[in-house]
Amino acid sequence: MARKKIALIGGGQIGGILALLIAQKELGDAVMLEIPEKEGMAKGKTLDIFEGTPLMGVDCNLSGTSDYQDIKGSDVVIVTAGLPRKPGMSREDLLDVNLKIMKNVAENVKKYCPDAFCIVLTNPLDAMVYSFKKISGFPKNRVVGMAGILDTGRYQSFIALELGISTEDVAATVLGGHGPTMVPLPRLTTVGGIPLTELLPQDKIDAIVDRTRKAGTEIVGLLGNGSAFFSPAISAIEMAESYIKDKKRILACAALLEGEYGIKGYYIGVPVVIGAGGVEKVLEIKLNDDEKAMLMNSLEAVKKAVAETKL
Ligand code: APR
Repeated sequence: MARKKIALIGGGQIGGILALLIAQKELGDAVMLEIPEKEGMAKGKTLDIFEGTPLMGVDCNLSGTSDYQDIKGSDVVIVTAGLPRKPGMSREDLLDVNLKIMKNVAENVKKYCPDAFCIVLTNPLDAMVYSFKKISGFPKNRVVGMAGILDTGRYQSFIALELGISTEDVAATVLGGHGPTMVPLPRLTTVGGIPLTELLPQDKIDAIVDRTRKAGTEIVGLLGNGSAFFSPAISAIEMAESYIKDKKRILACAALLEGEYGIKGYYIGVPVVIGAGGVEKVLEIKLNDDEKAMLMNSLEAVKKAVAETKL
């Protein structure tokens, strides 16, 4: 079987980790596309990783470029092109500048990779993935946003930390937009099959939910000159791997809803099945009234950002 071709649009902090993980997991050959001024950086990063492949015992080609011809026919496209947040900025502050970048990227991906499964990471996430979908015109099963997996990973980590148990044993999901209005679901969170609500008092759960909502901002504050990049890359690779290997994992992702959860025409975080067909299914959870209200509140934030794209 021929190796998959994976295009990385943007070769900054997240792009570099994506390339490393693709090599380590032997997911396919990766081509990292950057702006012309940073073509050398893309070539350098990918060559650096390639030179480590004999040591990792893996086979894959890695290359850098600023020419869209080189990503032609890619099976998977992962978009991180755009500015990250700096301290004091919200994800929405990035909208104008990242929207221009997204328009250019989506047009080129449409032209050169018409059959690709596309994962968008650029912030503000829910509006950027919406824009990519609108501009590319790709079917909804092939355009998905990475956010919910990362938010869920953060939530799971904080729970494991509080309980002093393995992160592997925390089963959870986080719905909603990628921002402070996101909706972690403690009622449905289990730890080794035990409801979280039986293991922790409400005030501890509330504190974990609050930290999860602000987790991206916490990292931005600590880093001082950019936003999280290791865990976003790990999250996007989970999605790409599930697609490439047809694993049909259930992952929280920003998916285009067409009536599910009573939402129509917007990308927002929900559990989906990712397999060889891309986003094969949106899973609907029966929410209680409070959870529904929180999701609708999050939708308002998403709608506001999408309205600003004027698409
Ligand atoms: N085409 C290709 N690459 C581009 C383009 C473009 N039109 N415009 C910008 N880039 C590149 C930049 O040159 C930069 O190297 O995108 C890269 C982004 O990398 P970083 O600035 O290091 O940002 P990163 O931390 O990787 O985050 C990227 O993902 O999570 C989001 O908020 C984050 O929007 C940000 C994006």
